Amino acid sequence: MAKIQCKNHNDFCPQALFLYGTYKEDKTPDFGLFCWFSYTWTQTDDGMGMGVMACIGTDKLTKDLIRKNGMFSANLVTEDILPLADYYGIVNGREVPDKMKYMPTVEKGVVLDVPTIAECPVSMELRVDKEIHMYEESDVYLCTIMGVTMKEELTDKSVPFIERFRKAAPVYAPGEDRYCSFDGRDLGEWGTPMQSLK
Ligand SMILES: Cc1cc2nc3c(=O)[nH]c(=O)nc-3n(C[C@H](O)[C@H](O)[C@H](O)COP(=O)(O)O)c2cc1C
Repeated sequence: MAKIQCKNHNDFCPQALFLYGTYKEDKTPDFGLFCWFSYTWTQTDDGMGMGVMACIGTDKLTKDLIRKNGMFSANLVTEDILPLADYYGIVNGREVPDKMKYMPTVEKGVVLDVPTIAECPVSMELRVDKEIHMYEESDVYLCTIMGVTMKEELTDKSVPFIERFRKAAPVYAPGEDRYCSFDGRDLGEWGTPMQSLK
């Protein structure tokens, strides 16, 4: 079947979801949900290594705090934490002062002063090297990965990678404002998983 020209978008190009963690001025954490996230090869303190590029659109609390602190964490979203992650993506931290009434288990970063989430199987600690202001309501952050923590069971190389990946159970944003599992199950429309929060 022929391909037809569509609107300029990224549907069917799945994006992994991350919760970005930042500290507010009073040292309590804020978390927001993000998917415009990918990787770069960059100069690190010990040579070349992995970096991250993250695009943040409309101004929001996460952006305010990344600008102020120059660092944040990126915590991989899994099926278990999806209701909370969805809530953090829908509720605006600038407008809702008690947004953080729902809290995961928060840990301190091992390298940077950032909050990380114990329930997430992978957490990256990111130092912002450059902010590229693209347009009103669009900024790109180029970062160095300064530290990664991972659930110990995921590091056991005697278990085939695909089994460990299945265990990690990451969630994707595949298009049309829906969530899906890595093995292709529909996990609902944005704004619905949060309805199960008590
Ligand atoms: C599935 C999903 C993905 C999102 N991805 C991004 C993103 O990549 N960039 C962005 O600027 N906002 C993104 N958002 C919106 C933010 O999560 C939202 O603005 C949230 O309020 C941020 O938290 P904060 O207000 O505490 O900063 C996404 C929202 C959802 C539901």
